[in-house]
Amino acid sequence: MRIEHNFDLSSLNTFRMKVRCACYVEYDSVDELTALDWDSLPRPLKHIGAGSNLLFTGDFPGTVLHSAIRYIKYVDLGLDEVPVMVGAGTTWDEVVENTCRNGIWGAENLSLIPGETGAAAVQNIGAYGVEFKDIVSGVVCFDLIEKRKCKFTTAECRYGYRESMFKEADGRYIVTSVLLRLSRKPRPRLEYKGLEGIDASSPASVREAVIKIRRTKLPDPAEKGSAGSFFKNPVVSALEFARIIDAAGGETVPHYILDGGFIKVPAAWLIDRCGFKGEREGGAAVYEKQPLVIVNDSGDASPADILELERRIVAGVRERFGVSLQPEVEHII
Ligand code: EPU
Repeated sequence: MRIEHNFDLSSLNTFRMKVRCACYVEYDSVDELTALDWDSLPRPLKHIGAGSNLLFTGDFPGTVLHSAIRYIKYVDLGLDEVPVMVGAGTTWDEVVENTCRNGIWGAENLSLIPGETGAAAVQNIGAYGVEFKDIVSGVVCFDLIEKRKCKFTTAECRYGYRESMFKEADGRYIVTSVLLRLSRKPRPRLEYKGLEGIDASSPASVREAVIKIRRTKLPDPAEKGSAGSFFKNPVVSALEFARIIDAAGGETVPHYILDGGFIKVPAAWLIDRCGFKGEREGGAAVYEKQPLVIVNDSGDASPADILELERRIVAGVRERFGVSLQPEVEHII
């Protein structure tokens, strides 16, 4: 276990904000969590993964916790439905690479999503028509109130679009491992735009195609700091959608019809039509190739730059289309 005070978080958030926390704890096992002297830690407590979906809005006065529980264990490779146990601190894309290399289907569409497995379980990450909830069968946690281990089935996790019971529980549960349920039998999911016609002969070939698409649309994390999609795609009523069509001035509005008559509209399209592509604020900018992404363009953007750019985008989209964009990136105050 590693405990540090006045710790620099710049390598632990993909926006590369130069912020510090009062205390940083990195643990290697559930036993260490159980043995930790919780009362001695500065409050509030905040558990992070790779910090790939976080915006620290300033120095953090409490304790940042981080998992170093890293493993990928195939429970039984001989089964058609392959159970795989994964430690929460394992980089998510290592899990996808490993399962694809072993010829196991299920995770390939979730290739190259930044972050760690624990965060994938909390946020219900999704891409190319697949969500984490589709491939998980159980989540093991450490309960910070009871100070003991507990387990949840997928239904108990109450997954929704980038939502889960863990988010609602507001930090009560620390995810320590997840049980994935993958498949030996081919089950490619290619309905999503861009995946039609790709080589789907193996999970590895689908992974390769997904990586290629993501690389053309999203910034290379080694070059520019960002937190991936900054906003959620808004879900609107038929009435709100009519107003968007009106404001679009004859242009076709891309959309996806959901259950219950609701409609999902791509936030990237709304932001693009408001002319925000490439827009700047201090060191921050709206990414040219995917306006859903805000980048630390200069490398020394401040949290205030990003917050101001966010404010302007939200106000612009609301004014033109009447839609209130919600951030997908979690703001840590
Ligand atoms: N669009 C524009 N202008 C642009 C770019 C896109 O108008 O410059 C419009 C297009 O109409 C396009 C639509 O936006 O068809 C949607 O774009 P895309 O299908 O690429 O996906 P997205 O809705 O922008 C979501 C996830 C991504 C995930 C992709 C692919 C959210 C908030 N984001 O983005 O997740 O990779 O789908 O499945 O749901 C992430 O969470 O970090 C992330 C990257």
